[in-house]
Amino acid sequence: MEAILLVGGKGSRLRPVTEHTPKPMVPTAGVPFLAHQLSRARAAGVTHVALATSYLAEVFEPYFGDGSALGMRISYVHEREPLGTGGAIRNASKALTCGPDEPVLVFNGDILTGLDIRALVDGHRTAGAEVSLHLTRVEDPSAFGLVPTDATGRVLAFTEKPERPEEIVTDQVNAGCYVFRRAVIDTIADGRPVSVERETFPSLLAAGALLHGVVDQTYWLDLGRPAALIQASADLVRGVVASPALPGRAGESLVLPGAEVADGAKLSGGTVVGAGARIARDAVVDGTVVLDGARIGAGAQVRRSLIGAGARVGARTVLDGTVIGDRADVGADNELLDGVRVWCEAVLPAAAIRFSSNC
Ligand code: GDD
Ligand code: MG
Repeated sequence: MEAILLVGGKGSRLRPVTEHTPKPMVPTAGVPFLAHQLSRARAAGVTHVALATSYLAEVFEPYFGDGSALGMRISYVHEREPLGTGGAIRNASKALTCGPDEPVLVFNGDILTGLDIRALVDGHRTAGAEVSLHLTRVEDPSAFGLVPTDATGRVLAFTEKPERPEEIVTDQVNAGCYVFRRAVIDTIADGRPVSVERETFPSLLAAGALLHGVVDQTYWLDLGRPAALIQASADLVRGVVASPALPGRAGESLVLPGAEVADGAKLSGGTVVGAGARIARDAVVDGTVVLDGARIGAGAQVRRSLIGAGARVGARTVLDGTVIGDRADVGADNELLDGVRVWCEAVLPAAAIRFSSNC
């Protein structure tokens, strides 16, 4: 089976994590996030993937090569100007070899899910649909594509990122995994930007095409924001969601070869420590992504954060829910909480910022 993976977005909501690394290449549980998606696709029977690249496109091929290490073939299809989700699907489909009636899987490149991919494809065949969509239910659907269905699963409408309260007619949202009949992809306009969510799906519905929605409440996360990316990494490390690409055994923490963790340091909650990173004595690191070469000082307390490659966190500094950019230097005795983002290479002096009066 063949698949298209959309990996060309800018990952703006993840900055500064995505300043030097496209979102799908950000290490998550020790390997680029894309490795988890590709290995899950392989396990579901996908043998050829067309990667639709745009932003920082040059970094994918040196890492994944021809795909043989994953037991699959990978084609790279680059957009010089981003073509949007629909335009990217159309463009990348030129690398596919299957016939017009064959099913083609399409994945957003930032979704971690336990979805049974084979079952989605089987359901697509049984329903005789033009497109099948994985749907999930969320508490606040407004940041997603809303997809109401009838009792048989027939999609009734597709409303991307509704702006008015009366548009929120369901809590079922597009989960970013589709099965297209190949011939349907060929009907998407070629060579210009197209949004599959705002243009292709609504116009297929208007033409009476059968779009089949499958609500599946298995594990699902969109990694578009830092808190979700950090959560996904911790869940992969702890084995809450399985991935054949996890570079080690599932457990409370994952320490990659070449990392050093001093005696008395405590790692928990699915923390991953990258190659060459160092955690000093008595540091507490919980549910956190520590990228390669980063250093956490003695007695620091780091929770639910992402520490960029080569970044430094000083002694006794407290971080909770923060993102520290690559090679940033956060001095000792700081306290940074709740969504603070320190830019790449920024330098924060010792005892510069606190959220509380106790020192
Ligand atoms: N090649 C290419 N070119 N890829 C793109 C482009 C482009 O121009 N624009 C976006 N992408 C890729 C992104 O890299 C990402 O993997 C995927 O398309 C979706 O883009 P996001 O920017 O992550 O979209 P979103 O999260 O706001 O919304 C989408 O996903 C939601 C589920 O997580 C939509 O599909 C929603 O309908 C859906 O609910
Ligand atoms: Mg997304």
